[in-house]
Amino acid sequence: MKDVWKLPAIAPWEKSCDKHPTQKPLSVLTRLILASTKPDAWILDPFSGSSTTGIATNLVNRRFLGLDQEEEYLKISKNQKLEIEDSKTASKYRQKIKGFNNQEELGLFLAEEPKSTYRAELGF
Ligand SMILES: C[S@@+](CC[C@H](N)C(=O)[O-])C[C@H]1O[C@@H](n2cnc3c(N)ncnc32)[C@H](O)[C@@H]1O
Repeated sequence: MKDVWKLPAIAPWEKSCDKHPTQKPLSVLTRLILASTKPDAWILDPFSGSSTTGIATNLVNRRFLGLDQEEEYLKISKNQKLEIEDSKTASKYRQKIKGFNNQEELGLFLAEEPKSTYRAELGF
C-alpha cells in the first residue's frame, strides 16, 4: 500500500505539553478538519487523549469539545489549549504546520474562508 498523503511524522515542538501515546501530527488533523468542515464548525472527540484534534481545530478557527477519562490527559489538553490562547504562539504553530506549499499558505487560506457560515446555517 502507498501513502495517500505524504506528511511528516509528529515533530518535537508538537509535544511541548507532554505527550499522549497515540498523539497524531497536527498537519494530518488540520488537513482533515479543513477538508471536512466550515469555519466555526463544532468538532467532538469523545476519546480526545491530549486533544491534539482540539488544538488543530482551534488553530483553524473551528470549535472543539473533547472528553477523556484520564485526568493526566485532561491536564495535557488544558495546557495545550492555554498555550495557543497566546496569539503569538498560535500564529507560530500555524506557521509550523506542514503540508502547505509555503509558510503563508495556511494563513491565506484561513483569511479567505467565509466568516459567518455557522450563524447563517442556523438561521441567525
Ligand atoms: C486512542 S486515544 C485518543 C486519541 C485521540 N482521539 C487522538 O486522535 O489523538 C483514546 C483515548 O480514549 C480514552 N478513553 C478510553 N475509554 C474512555 C471512556 N470510556 N471515556 C472517556 N475516555 C476514554 C483514553 O484515555 C485515551 O486517551
